[in-house]
Amino acid sequence: MTAVTVRVPAKVNLQLAVGPAREDGYHDLVNVFHAVSLFDEVTVIAAQPCAERGLVRLTAEGETHGNTAGVPLDATNLAARAVHRLAAETDAGAPVDIQLTKRIPVAGGMAGGSADAAGALVACATLWGAELGHDRLLALAADLGSDVAFPLVGGTAVGTGRGELLTPVPSTGRYHWVFALSGTGLSTGAVFGEYDRLRPDAPEPREDTALMSALASGNARALGAALRNDLEPAALSLRPELRSTLDAGRDADALGVIVSGSGPTCAFLAEDRAAAAHIAAALRESGHCERALVAHGDVPGATVVCQE
Ligand code: C5P
Repeated sequence: MTAVTVRVPAKVNLQLAVGPAREDGYHDLVNVFHAVSLFDEVTVIAAQPCAERGLVRLTAEGETHGNTAGVPLDATNLAARAVHRLAAETDAGAPVDIQLTKRIPVAGGMAGGSADAAGALVACATLWGAELGHDRLLALAADLGSDVAFPLVGGTAVGTGRGELLTPVPSTGRYHWVFALSGTGLSTGAVFGEYDRLRPDAPEPREDTALMSALASGNARALGAALRNDLEPAALSLRPELRSTLDAGRDADALGVIVSGSGPTCAFLAEDRAAAAHIAAALRESGHCERALVAHGDVPGATVVCQE
C-alpha cells in the first residue's frame, strides 16, 4: 500500500454545558457532539526516507479561496502531532506526505483541526499496518485534544471530562442543518477565557433531559428548542456581529439557532431539506455571513475511502 485517504466529519455541539475552570486550565463539560456532513479528506502517501525531511510533510487545499488560510503546515499542526504520536506509540512509523482537503471551516468551532488529526491517525494506522486496536486509538486521540476522539466514532455522543470521554447516543432522526461561516476564526482558548470572565460562578455541567428525549424520539422541533451552548455568550461578547447572523436564521424560521462550539460558525436546525435551502438563501441574502452551507446529521466517523 502506498496511499490511504480518509474522510472525516465536522461536528456541531447540540449541548455544550461548561463547568468552572479546573486546576489544569481546562473545564469539565457535558458536550453532546453531533457529526455532520461537512467533510475534510486526509490523504497520506508513503514517502522516501531521506535526511532532509522529517516524518511528516503537510499540504492543504480548500474547495474555495481562503478556506485553508490559518492552517499551519508545520509540526504544530494537530494532524502532524498525531502522526508523530502514533509513530512513537507503535514503532511502525515511516515518512509520509499528508494532503489535507479542507471543507470544514478553519478555526470555526466545528473541530476541523481535530477532525484532520483523527483522519491522519486512521490513515497512517492503515498505511503502516499498525495493529493498535480501537480503544488505544481512542485514548491516543483523547490525549491529543478534547475534540479528537469524537470524529473517530462520529454519530452523536456525549463527551464528559474535558469532552474526551465519549458515550454514544443512539439517535433516530436525520437532521437538516445550515452553517453560516465567518471570514475570520475564533480561538477556542480565548472563548473559554471570556467564559471564565463572564461566568466566574459557573455551576457543574449537567446533561439536559429535554435534549436527550428529543434525540431519542427523533423530533427535530423539540431538538431545536433544546439546543444550548454555554459558550455562546462568550463568543457573542468577542464577536457581537454574530447576533445579526443568528437573528437572520431565526427570521427564516429555523427550528433552533446556536453558535457552534466556540464559534464563530453559527448553526441552524431546519425542518427538512427544503427549509434548510431556504434558510441558507436567507442568510446569504442578509449579508451577515461569509458563506452558508447545507449539511445533515448524524453521519459516521472517520472512514477509509481509498487505498492504493
Ligand atoms: O483540548 P484542546 O487543545 O482542543 O483545547 C483547546 C483550548 O480550549 C484549551 O487550551 C483550553 O483553553 C480550552 N478548553 C477548555 N476546556 C475544555 C476544552 C478546551 O478550557 N474542556
